[in-house]
Amino acid sequence: MDGLLQPGPVASAVVSHADRDADYGNTITRHGGKDEQCRARNTPRAIAGMKGGTGEFSYTRNSRFQSAAIKILQPILEQEIGELNVDDWMDGSAVCIADFGCSVGANTLEYAEICFQSVQECHRVKSSEVIKPPVQYFFCDLPSNDFNTLFRQLEEWRDSQRMNLYAAAVPGSFYGRLFPSRSLHVAISILALQWMSQVPDAVVDRASPAYNSGRVWIDRTKNTAALEAYVQTARQDLRNFLLARAEEVVSGGFILFFIVGRTDESHPENQWNEEGLYAGPYSIVFESTWEELVVEGIIDEERRDSFNVPVYCHSVGEVRAVAESTNAFEIKQLQIQRLSFGTPDEAEQLLAAPEQYGQFMRNFTRALLNSYMVEHIGEQSTAEFFNRFERNVAAAVREGRIPGVFMDCLLAILVRK
Ligand SMILES: C[S@@+](CC[C@H](N)C(=O)[O-])C[C@H]1O[C@@H](n2cnc3c(N)ncnc32)[C@H](O)[C@@H]1O
Repeated sequence: MDGLLQPGPVASAVVSHADRDADYGNTITRHGGKDEQCRARNTPRAIAGMKGGTGEFSYTRNSRFQSAAIKILQPILEQEIGELNVDDWMDGSAVCIADFGCSVGANTLEYAEICFQSVQECHRVKSSEVIKPPVQYFFCDLPSNDFNTLFRQLEEWRDSQRMNLYAAAVPGSFYGRLFPSRSLHVAISILALQWMSQVPDAVVDRASPAYNSGRVWIDRTKNTAALEAYVQTARQDLRNFLLARAEEVVSGGFILFFIVGRTDESHPENQWNEEGLYAGPYSIVFESTWEELVVEGIIDEERRDSFNVPVYCHSVGEVRAVAESTNAFEIKQLQIQRLSFGTPDEAEQLLAAPEQYGQFMRNFTRALLNSYMVEHIGEQSTAEFFNRFERNVAAAVREGRIPGVFMDCLLAILVRK
């Protein structure tokens, strides 16, 4: 492994991000909707981060589904860290690990702990040195991330663990450089890289054939120009991510990323597996709820059309092609992994309780999209949207239109050459 540089200075928790779950009010007037539209920014292009704080709709309280990934990834991380060529850090130098798209809440802290313990275990097995290597752990996310809440959670967690772990926040987009050259041993990114850097310009340009009229996403789209715009943006984003990490990760170090993935190689428009969690609630119920807001005059058509969800699910072939094009990584693993909600019993129970399922999907989705939607249609219309979404999801479950509670994800382990 190449010589280890200490990472450059980074900002610690900096962002004031009040928890504004309090009360958006459940009533909405038609005119109120229009006023909000005027106040809302024209077209948000980049995501505004997960919902901060610890309130009802916060990511902290609504990331249980994502936490299922920990079970899959723990043994893999332990093994990969165990196999790192550790010569450099046996002398007490820090092992540098970054979590890109950490968000807030228990999940990122669990990954930090897994990585930390794996380093200690690796050291125990391979070295007679008594001094254990410290771990420098970087929590990276957009500047809008609620780092303050995360660092309060970290304090409680670290106090109880008494760890030799040095934490820092790194605010910024992971599609650009965030670290000095060759300063990281391990880069992980969990359920974050499906978010694109922005909504492609063409899909919100009325003059373009890619204008995504009547839709807020591209799942099952017939608009090939809109689909192509998403494909191109997502491909370039992934390439930018890998090129940035190629500079930052030392030779022999690795990137592990786990994203919402696509099983249909040849049809990118089939973004979700139609038997999975998202097929019903997202592609049908999510968009039909937007349509209700339009039909009832709460928002106008153009505002709906100019809202697009900047998410793209890559296939294994697409990731392979981009990774190979960088010439910087050896592909160690690249495969689809199914992520299921809770235990089979819990999943069954959820499907058997439509109201509970509706509430779960509302909170889960709101934690992801609230800030982004509020920027576009204002707080009242967003709250109205989610009330309806909850009811519509519950109805879909009752009618048997929600088939399963899983997502197909894509796991990639790339070793820096
Ligand atoms: C669904 S959360 C996943 C959080 C966490 N890794 C987990 O497993 O629970 C996705 C995170 O990616 C972050 N994210 C999305 N795009 C980003 C970008 N371009 N740069 C940095 N972070 C980004 C979001 O702000 C969000 O916190």
